[in-house]
Amino acid sequence: MTADRIDELRAEATAAAEAAPDTAALEELRVRYLGRKAELPNLLRGVAELPPEQRGVVGKAANQARQALEALIEHRAAQLAAGELDARLAGDRVDVTLPGAPPQPVGSLHLMTAVRREIEDVFCGLGFAVVEGPEVELVHYNFDALNHAPAHPARSRSDTFYVATAQRPADPGDQVVLRTHTSPMQIRSMEAQPPPIQLIVPGRVYRPDSDATHTPQFHQVEGLAVDEDITLADLKGTLLAFARAIFGDERDVRLRPHYFPFTEPSVEVDVSCFMCAGTGVLPRTGVRCNLCKGTGWLEILGSGMVDPNVLAGIEAHDYDPERWQGYAFGMGIERIAMLKHGVPDLRLFYDNDLRFLEQFG
Ligand code: PHE
Repeated sequence: MTADRIDELRAEATAAAEAAPDTAALEELRVRYLGRKAELPNLLRGVAELPPEQRGVVGKAANQARQALEALIEHRAAQLAAGELDARLAGDRVDVTLPGAPPQPVGSLHLMTAVRREIEDVFCGLGFAVVEGPEVELVHYNFDALNHAPAHPARSRSDTFYVATAQRPADPGDQVVLRTHTSPMQIRSMEAQPPPIQLIVPGRVYRPDSDATHTPQFHQVEGLAVDEDITLADLKGTLLAFARAIFGDERDVRLRPHYFPFTEPSVEVDVSCFMCAGTGVLPRTGVRCNLCKGTGWLEILGSGMVDPNVLAGIEAHDYDPERWQGYAFGMGIERIAMLKHGVPDLRLFYDNDLRFLEQFG
């Protein structure tokens, strides 16, 4: 009788466990068939009271049934748990390519980056290539090859950062500096390719100055064009196109005589003030224009015709100054950005204050 009951219980529990739809149902079954108050464990506890001849048979059958059931439930539980995990993972799947909710701001380019790219775009449109060069430079490229006299004041340690080297080089041209302008790339580019050449060089430059309009590190864009029959008119036309692209179609440019060691003649270039349309006074109010200080002009860059001495110094290729002429220019990107966007203090570019940066999305 008891042995039959054990078989019955075993068959019933096995069928139920195999049919259990989920882990919660299976747990209920475990309690029902193997829990403290369940029939099978009760039978096992009662084995001692059975007549001795039945104890062995019943005890053994009940034990086997319990072990078999425990194993089955454990196996089935693992099966169900795995299935449930798969279902949960499938349900929880996150599409990381979907926009956030609410969508997060993606930020914007730093004003310096935006203005540099704008300048590059203008010159690319005019047929200039964009190249970059080393910021740690030899005195030879930064000064000597650019026709600076040996005692030129820009070479002084108060105007130029010198980089310490293990030994003082025998040739002073091998001394190392942080480039003070992008002009060394004029020389390096001509050494790298024969004429004609037409390129711009954006990049960082360094000078030991620090105030509202000077930071020890700033950015320039150099320009160089060398070809047969290049004249100052080509320079002026190119810079006029540039000034109009950046500051507006109404702008004009003017060239003022200046001096740079590596250009002859040298000029400083002004663009007519876009605030007061070059009049020096603001429309309607008649107040003196603050941007151009009432002059009607804004200085934007230095330039000139490449000095024949510079061309003649290039040995790697034939830049014979009797045949090839060129112009060069160099502008500060910060200065262009400050003028265009009315930024009053250069240091704002480097403070990384979001209240400033966010104004130029
Ligand atoms: N390198 C000069 C400067 O930094 C600018 C310049 C470049 C002038 C090219 C003439 C020609 O002031």
